[in-house]
Amino acid sequence: MAEEWAFFEGKFVPIDEARVSVKTHALNYGTGCFEGIRGYWNSEHSEMYMFRAPEHFERLHRSASMLRMSLRYTVDELTEFAAELIRLNEYRTDTYVRPVVYKSGAIVGLSMVRRTDSTIEFLPDDFFLFAVPFGDYLDVNKPIRCCISSWNRIDDNMIPARSKATGLYLNSALAKTEAEELGYDEGIMLTTDGHVSEGSGENLFIVRDGHLVTPARSENILEGITRATVIELAKTELGIDTIERRVDRTELYVSDELFLCGTGAQISAVSEVDNRKVGNGEVGSVTSSLQKLYFDVVKGNHQSYAHWCKPVYAGAGQ
Ligand SMILES: Cc1ncc(COP(=O)(O)O)c(C=O)c1O
Repeated sequence: MAEEWAFFEGKFVPIDEARVSVKTHALNYGTGCFEGIRGYWNSEHSEMYMFRAPEHFERLHRSASMLRMSLRYTVDELTEFAAELIRLNEYRTDTYVRPVVYKSGAIVGLSMVRRTDSTIEFLPDDFFLFAVPFGDYLDVNKPIRCCISSWNRIDDNMIPARSKATGLYLNSALAKTEAEELGYDEGIMLTTDGHVSEGSGENLFIVRDGHLVTPARSENILEGITRATVIELAKTELGIDTIERRVDRTELYVSDELFLCGTGAQISAVSEVDNRKVGNGEVGSVTSSLQKLYFDVVKGNHQSYAHWCKPVYAGAGQ
């Protein structure tokens, strides 16, 4: 088996050499931000396609900037590191790439700056990247069961909700864990004022009156790349508009269809929320059309969206 590699402290190293100190600021205080990017293996093309990698690295830059961190690599450089990492690992199966920017200073104390009488200096940041073979995160072959989480989604004025801050994911981990402990597949989080925000690691769409509806960007959601993909595919390929607005909890109970979407989750139909059946409890026609389209697109089988799919092996050195 090929050796497993990571990108760490500016170079590719065997994964066991990618280690941080227990004193690392990010490990103690959650001062990091990350991304999740999927690579889809297309066996007919003998090719791996990374889906919308530049968009993920653009968001990583935005997260870092909101969180007072700096990322010294450009989007193009980061995309190439991700492709090179997959090649080094020789993965020829669906893969998940995890880039992380983190406060790497080994220092006790919350502040991300050091002050002297005359200067203010930010603690150092670093960047790492690893990749793992990755199958389905949520079931995409049959609908899943969700509950409304007792944990509210963090408010933007607590931790920037549109960032993928590592510390923010304790909020998501509590919601996901609670849902699974209660026997559900996923938890849907409400905002502090009681409106629907998103799943613990996915954006959410409902179908009502022939339209797609999704919580607006002001509802403390992560501005998902899959969400944007769904909006575009629904409009361009199915002629269905998406309304971005505030969504009530009980609209989920009476919607015709409901699905969650995200890089990890892909598009996962929901059959039940809080033990109330959604629609007829089966995968609805809009959801199943979007699922089919989405998988065609991400696997590099839809020519119109080839620009979203970066070939990893044929793309070497380009
Ligand atoms: C909290 C949260 N919301 C939404 C998403 C979906 O975002 P994307 O489609 O960009 O993966 C994710 C996954 O990254 C997430 O963690």
